[in-house]
Amino acid sequence: MPSTYRNHVRRNRIGTAAAARCQQYSTDLDGSNTLAAMHVLVINGPNLNLLGTRQPDIYGLTTLSQLEELIAAWGHQRDIEVSCYQSNHEGEIIDRLHAARGVHDGLVINAGALTHYSYALHDAIVATELPAVEVHISNVRHREPWRRTSVIEPACVYSIFGRGLDGYRYALDYLVNRTAMPFETYSYGPAEDQIADLRVPGGPGRHPVAVLIHGGFWRDHWLRDSMDPPAIDLTRRGWATWNLEYHRVGSGGGWPVTLEDIANGIDHLAVAASDHPLDLDRVVAIGHSAGGQLALWSAVRPHLSDGIPDPSTRVEIRGVLALAAVSDLRAGHADGVGRNAVEEFLRRAPDDGPERYAAADPATLVPLGVPQILIHGASDDAVPVQMSRDYVAAATAAGDRITYEELPEIGHMELIDPGHDAWRRAAALLDDLA
Ligand code: DQA
Repeated sequence: MPSTYRNHVRRNRIGTAAAARCQQYSTDLDGSNTLAAMHVLVINGPNLNLLGTRQPDIYGLTTLSQLEELIAAWGHQRDIEVSCYQSNHEGEIIDRLHAARGVHDGLVINAGALTHYSYALHDAIVATELPAVEVHISNVRHREPWRRTSVIEPACVYSIFGRGLDGYRYALDYLVNRTAMPFETYSYGPAEDQIADLRVPGGPGRHPVAVLIHGGFWRDHWLRDSMDPPAIDLTRRGWATWNLEYHRVGSGGGWPVTLEDIANGIDHLAVAASDHPLDLDRVVAIGHSAGGQLALWSAVRPHLSDGIPDPSTRVEIRGVLALAAVSDLRAGHADGVGRNAVEEFLRRAPDDGPERYAAADPATLVPLGVPQILIHGASDDAVPVQMSRDYVAAATAAGDRITYEELPEIGHMELIDPGHDAWRRAAALLDDLA
């Protein structure tokens, strides 16, 4: 990649007062002090007072007061004190933001249509010096073109869209995880989505590196926040973690851009290693769900002949931990996993684009030539457990060294939940890879 992307660290802006409060919070998470609850302000903008009756096909049937109750309950579960505010008036929202300075620790804001044109709101968010997460209930990237623009996005540390009301819950999680451990965001390309969050363990290096690749069936409304908890857990266990974002289907991704991003994003570790003591001879990839396909692929791509991407700056993957992975794209296509996600990703059915399947499909590419650990919950209803069984049989027959664990009564998401035994098992096995 061009050297202009060297160490471009961004979007972790936080004011001094807020930083001090967050510092206190993160110290407390380590158990050394009495925990000061985070105080988060949740703002809903114009027309969101009509939730429940306004375009229910897009925004659902839940009313604003029901949503605010939900948000309060989610806050309670996370030890967050939440204040909710709604207004249809730009000036009132700005006044409310001014009043939040030095009082709150974070913001969650669904600015409604103001999102798309209010620079005054952008400036007010910046003036709060608080980490703000932008939320949209609908997928604003799949609607009228003018909704794709967010002028407040640069003032926010993260944007969540298209996840329905759950977006507010994910926003609270993002703020908690962001506060739990500092990280640096590197850009490996010019696009918003070409970034990775680096977390480095304390103590002397050189640290082995885990590249985390999130799932979501390659679709744009799922981003890397799902991998923040495992990234934080692994960093506490002594791994440097590189939580990778990439272009996804619906936002410029899919074949071949998503694969190029994964390759370039991993190669960009060479830049991070010039700033931090990373051991690039011990880099493993961890992928969940569709990210499992990308992680498995990342191990074999330096050996692919079709040149994705430029061979000059490669960081080799020494092993892969594939969690509930979509390890077989042909089978995934046949089963229609993720509501036909494979065909959307490769933009071809197997018969129409056999070369794309040949280049991207782990089950076709075996042996990958690196040790792999596959873990799948037997009760997974998103990616069938049979896929891992078949992949393991094929990869083993082809000569790969595979450790496979099938976890009874475990579903899809527990595998990346550090509070769950399923993830703890995965993390314990990881040491064998590097
Ligand atoms: C919205 C999307 C905006 O474009 C729209 O103007 C809204 C709601 C959402 O939550 O999806 O009012 O922010």
